[in-house]
Amino acid sequence: MGSDGYYPLFETRKAKGRVIYRLYALSVLVGICLIWVYRASHIPKPGEDGRWGWIGLLGAELWFGLYWVLTQAHRWNLVYRSTFKDRLSQRYEKGLPGVDIFVCTADPVLEPPLMVINTVLSVMAYDYPTEKLSVYLSDDGGSKVTYYALLEASDFAKQWLPYCKKFRVEPRSPAAYFISKGDPEDANQAEEFMVIKKLYQEMESRIENAAKIGRIPEDVLLKHEEFSQWDPYFSRGDHDPILQILIDGRNPNATDRDGFVLPTLVYLAREKRPLHRHNFKAGAMNALIRVSSKISKGPIILNVDCDMYSNNSHSVQDALCFFMDEKGHEVAFVQFPQNYVNVSRNEIYSASMRVIGEVEFPGLDGYGGPLYIGSGCFHRRDALCGREYSKGFETDWKSANGMRSEESVYKLEEQTKRLASCIYEEDTRWGQDMGLLYACPVEDVITGLAIQCRGWKSVYYNPSRRAFLGVVPATLSEVLVQHKRWSEGDFQILFSKYSPAWYAHGKISLGLQMGYCVYCLWAPNCLATLYYSVIPSIYLLKGIPLFPEISSPWFIPFAYVIIVKHIYGFFEFLLSGGTAIGWWNDQRMWLYKRTSSYLFAVIDTVLKLLGIADSGFIISAKVADHDVSQRYEKDIIEFGISSPMFTLLSTIASVNLFCFAGVVKEAVLGEGIRRVYETATLQSVLCCVLVLINLPLYEALFLRKDKGKMPSSLAVKSVAIALFACIAFMIL
Ligand SMILES: *[C@@H]1O[C@H](CO)[C@@H](O)[C@H](O)[C@H]1NC(C)=O
Ligand SMILES: *[C@@H]1O[C@H](CO)[C@@H](O)[C@H](O)[C@H]1NC(C)=O
Repeated sequence: MGSDGYYPLFETRKAKGRVIYRLYALSVLVGICLIWVYRASHIPKPGEDGRWGWIGLLGAELWFGLYWVLTQAHRWNLVYRSTFKDRLSQRYEKGLPGVDIFVCTADPVLEPPLMVINTVLSVMAYDYPTEKLSVYLSDDGGSKVTYYALLEASDFAKQWLPYCKKFRVEPRSPAAYFISKGDPEDANQAEEFMVIKKLYQEMESRIENAAKIGRIPEDVLLKHEEFSQWDPYFSRGDHDPILQILIDGRNPNATDRDGFVLPTLVYLAREKRPLHRHNFKAGAMNALIRVSSKISKGPIILNVDCDMYSNNSHSVQDALCFFMDEKGHEVAFVQFPQNYVNVSRNEIYSASMRVIGEVEFPGLDGYGGPLYIGSGCFHRRDALCGREYSKGFETDWKSANGMRSEESVYKLEEQTKRLASCIYEEDTRWGQDMGLLYACPVEDVITGLAIQCRGWKSVYYNPSRRAFLGVVPATLSEVLVQHKRWSEGDFQILFSKYSPAWYAHGKISLGLQMGYCVYCLWAPNCLATLYYSVIPSIYLLKGIPLFPEISSPWFIPFAYVIIVKHIYGFFEFLLSGGTAIGWWNDQRMWLYKRTSSYLFAVIDTVLKLLGIADSGFIISAKVADHDVSQRYEKDIIEFGISSPMFTLLSTIASVNLFCFAGVVKEAVLGEGIRRVYETATLQSVLCCVLVLINLPLYEALFLRKDKGKMPSSLAVKSVAIALFACIAFMIL
C-alpha cells in the first residue's frame, strides 16, 4: 500500500546484484582502456611488418570497446514488473475498457489459414468481458481461403469459448490445447472434450482441404454471398477493399451456445492497387486502426502476429494493470516478450534471443521503457494515433457503444470500407506521425521510438507463464534473412528523422538513447567482426604477431577482458534459461549473423543511400517440411541452398581452417611450438576458437550427405577462394 492508502495495480522491483555488476563492468572498462593504450602506443613503424594489420585492429578494438560501453545501458539498471490483477477486477468491475485486437497475416501459403484462426480463437477466448473485446484480422494476402477459415472459426467459437470458460482450459489456441492435453480425467469434461475435439478436427480437415484445392465448398459459397467479392478479376495486388463483420458483438443475436455475447470479429482485406504503395504491415495496421475506430473504438489496442497465439487468457488484465494504475497515465504501450514453442533445448540458431527478453529489455525498462517489437504489444490508442503526452491528460476508457441491428451492420461495413482504401491516406499524417510509421522495414521499432519521443513511457512485462507463443524459423538461412531485415531496418532508424542519436536527445533518457543505438548499430558491427575473424589468422600464417607476447604485462588486460566477459556472458545465458551447449551455439550464431546478415544489411543500406537498389520485405516461412524439422530436432544445422551468405561464411571458415593447419604444421616441425606459444598465443587461440566454432560448417562442407548440407558447388567455390586468398597473402 502506498503512503496515501492507494493500492497500486503494479509493482516495479530493481534487480539484485547491481553493485556487483557495476564493479565487474568498471573493471572491464579499465581493461578495455588498457587495450586501447597498448594498441595506440605500439603501432609498428612505417616499413615494419604488420603495420596496417595493427592499425586495423586498433580500429576494430575501438569499435568493440565503444559498442560495449553502449550495451551497458541494457544491464546497468534492470527492473522487473509484477501486477495485481485481483485489485484491477475489484476496482474496475464494470468500468473495464474495450480492447481491440489486431491480427495481421500477409500470405496464405507461408502463413496457413489454420494457424491464423488458431491465433484468432486464442485471443477471442481471453478471459475478459466479451462485449468489450473485438478481434480484427487484416489479410494482406486477400485470400478467399483465409476468409473461409475465419468464417469457420466464427462458428466454432460458439462452442469453443463456452468450453474454455466452463473448464478454465489453457492454452486457448485449440491446436495447442489438443496437442498439449491428453484426455481429461474429470468425467464431466471428458465427454465435452471428445465432442469439441471432434468438431475441431472436422473444421481442420475442411479448412485444409479448401487450402489444398484452393476452392471453397459450394454450399458455403451459396450461403455467403460476400464471396462474390472475390470475382474473376480479383488479384492479390489489385482489388477493392473487403470488410466483413463476421460477428457483431453489439448485436443481441450474436451469442454462443450458452446464450452469452461473443466478441466482435472482423475481416479486412484493404484495397490494393498496383500503383499505390501499400506499406506492408504498417499500412495494414493503420487501416485497422481507422476501421476499428468506427466499429468498436477500444481505447486499448493489442497487436499480435498471426503465428503468435495467446498462451495466457489473463494477459489483457495484466496489461491493464499498467494503463489503469494512477501512475500509469504516462504509459503508451506494454510490450510482452515474444516466446516460442518449438525451440529445441540447445537452440542451434539461437532464434529465441533469450538474453534480449530476459536481460536487455528489463534493462531498457529501467530507462523509460522497451522497444515496440511488434507482436504481443498493448497500445493506448491515443498514443498510437499520434497524441503527445501531456500531464493531466486522461484517456476516456469508454469505447463506442450502442446496440446495432443486422441492417445497420451492413451500412456500417459500407461506410467503413473507404477508410481502408488506397487513397484515404493521401495528404494525411498517417504513416508520418499518426499510426505506424512508414518508410522503414522495422515499422514497429521506429513507431515505438516516435511515441517515446512524444513524451510517453513504455513498460516491459515478462510473466513467468508465457503470454504469447510463436514458432521459430527452422533453417539457418531464414534466421539470417530475418536478421538482415532487422539489422538493416534498425540501421536506417539511425539516419531517419527519429534518430535515437540526434533527434531523441533530450526527449528520452540517455540510457534509452544508448539502448536504441545498440540495436541501430547491429549492422555496422560486421566490419570489426569480419576484420577480427580473418586478419589475425592470416597474419598468423605469415608468422607476424599482432598481440602482446604471453610474458608481457600487456597480455593481462587482453586475457582479463576476454575471459571475464565470456564468463559473464555464459552465466547470463544460463540465468536466462539457456543451456551450456546453447551458449556455445549462440556464440556461433553471433559470429554468423555479424559476418553475413549484418554485412549484407550494410551493403544494402549503402546502395539504398546511393539510390541504386530498393530492398523488399521478405516474409519467412512459418512451416517447415518434415526432413527439415527432423534435422532441427537433432540439432543439425540446415544449409541446403546456395546463397551469398553461405558462400561468405564458408570462405571465412575455410580461411581459418587453412591458417590453423599452417600453425599446426609450424608447431609440429622443430622449434616452432615455442615460438607460436610465446609470440602468438592469442592469435593462435583466436584462430583455434574460430575453427572449433565452425566445426558444424566444415561437416556440412565436406562430410554430410543429407539434403541440408552445403551444396557441392558452393563448397568448391568457397574453398578455392579461401585458398587463393591465403596464397596471395603469403606471396605479397
Ligand atoms: C503455456 O501455458 C501452459 C498452460 O497454461 C503452461 O503449462 C505452459 O508452461 C505455458 N508455456 C510456456 C512456454 O510458458
Ligand atoms: C513447430 O511445432 C509444430 C507443432 O507444434 C510443428 O508442426 C512444426 O513442424 C514445428 N516446426 C519446427 C521448425 O520444428
